[in-house]
Amino acid sequence: MTIEPKLIKTLRDKREKITQHIKPEKLEAMHAKGMLSARERIDALFQEGTFQELGMHARHNAVHFGMAGRDLPADGVITGSGYLGSMQIAVFCQDFSVLAGTLGKMQARKITRVMRYALKVGIPVVAFKDSGGARIQEGVDALSGYGDVFYSNVLLSGVVPQIAVICGPCAGGAAYSPALMDFVIMTRNNSYMCLTGPEVIKAVTGRTTTMAEIGSAEMHASVSGNAHFVAEDDRHALDLVKQILSYMPSNNTEDPPHDLSVPIEETADHGIEDLIPADPSAPLDMYAVIRRLVDNGEMLEVHANFARNIIVGFARFSGVIVGIVANQPMVMAGALDLDAADKVARFVRTCNVFNIPLVTLVDVPGFLPGVEEERGGIIRHGAKMLFAFASCTTPKITVILRKAYGGSYLAMCSQELGADMVFAWPTAEIAVMGADAAVKMLYRKELEKAGDQRAARAAELAQDYRDEFASPYEAAANFYITDVIEPCETRATVSLALRKTLAKRELRPSKKHGNMPM
Ligand code: HXC
Repeated sequence: MTIEPKLIKTLRDKREKITQHIKPEKLEAMHAKGMLSARERIDALFQEGTFQELGMHARHNAVHFGMAGRDLPADGVITGSGYLGSMQIAVFCQDFSVLAGTLGKMQARKITRVMRYALKVGIPVVAFKDSGGARIQEGVDALSGYGDVFYSNVLLSGVVPQIAVICGPCAGGAAYSPALMDFVIMTRNNSYMCLTGPEVIKAVTGRTTTMAEIGSAEMHASVSGNAHFVAEDDRHALDLVKQILSYMPSNNTEDPPHDLSVPIEETADHGIEDLIPADPSAPLDMYAVIRRLVDNGEMLEVHANFARNIIVGFARFSGVIVGIVANQPMVMAGALDLDAADKVARFVRTCNVFNIPLVTLVDVPGFLPGVEEERGGIIRHGAKMLFAFASCTTPKITVILRKAYGGSYLAMCSQELGADMVFAWPTAEIAVMGADAAVKMLYRKELEKAGDQRAARAAELAQDYRDEFASPYEAAANFYITDVIEPCETRATVSLALRKTLAKRELRPSKKHGNMPM
């Protein structure tokens, strides 16, 4: 039987109407702003010919306010899956050119269907958000739709990676869906995210503000911490999506794509020694250290502009994918504060759910002292960090480079918090507090008597404290650390330790879930 040409033509016409509805001049204007159309975003994400659309012909049933019979291609969202390398990825992309990408009952149904599909087959979800929010004409159906999306986000959380790309507006409760996902990327000039806009804030509080102040990519990446990455434009955002996924497994039952065929080079890297300042109180640049330790000096930093006193990101040690957590002594001397604790806790939990080993690099003087910190709840925030490290069951390797004082020593994944191996450089100082503070506390009377020799005597005592009491050999003698290593051995030592602990399995008491401080 030959199919009637009319039937084929109808299908082709319908497809064309749904996929080719944007006028060329509108598309050009979008391109000029660094934006792609929804279909262009999907084409750029996947290998050619691998995208299969789910629900292209789905249609809304709204009838109020002129909606009856109104034609909305794909109901303003494109859903489906395709391949990036050998990884299948589910996607939904709101189409702003269709009634501002607003969400009603059908759009929500399409989104939740593709998310459930991702859950069933165990693949990551990438969501492009570009929408005026709840479709006003669909009233409570739209609100219910958002509720279903949030529920699905939570259902998928910890099972498959979820990445939100904010390419345009993302206002109102709609912003909670990205907040429930693992990574949020915002484009620098075209996106914003807020619960209530400047007009509402003005009406309710009387305060004048701007969208830049409350919702820009810049603000969310550096102040609120809601955005993990800022992309220059849509293409850069797509590149970041691909980079993130290159470190991820498809789901929580798989390992990330380690390359165990990479040999572990044993050549000593003496160059790393040049990065250690002679003066123990001069700051070390942790970025420079990380670059020397990881494969090709490459790290995908997460939350780069938020809580810059701590560094988190993904990298590889001789082919093994890791999450790095490292103090940055160049900012606030690397002290841990409220935002740093949140940043670490979140990152460690992301690594744990996706079976990514952790490498923690320590040079920390302590938790930041201060009235604002105490009143802001540093105990509660710091406890998140302790909780996250202690409950993480992936391989955990810690290297103490220099300072490791007090609670912050424990909080930076000490052996007691479950590190599988802890290595220390000979320059490490592990103690309740720094040498100067300890000497002041312990030798007050002796120093008072020292008169004009006071400073010299204090320096002498501090040196003794560093050399003997706070020395890494003291910790090693008590087997609180695994070994003392030369800095030049660090890359090979950590690479080997990771290989050896990759197959690690830790059994914990059965429970619904721990009660992490929030
Ligand atoms: C229905 C909407 C709409 C909405 C925009 N449109 N937002 N239709 N519901 N929420 C329509 C416009 O009427 C217009 O239709 C078309 O989409 C394009 O919108 P424009 O305003 O012309 O575009 P632009 O100037 O680019 O402005 C885009 C915008 C603006 C910034 C998104 O439209 C806007 O502020 N919209 C309202 C946003 C909002 O308040 N949403 C509700 C948030 S509360 P025509 O027919 O003229 O082409 C919310 C609650 C969720 O979302 C709660 C979840 C728990």
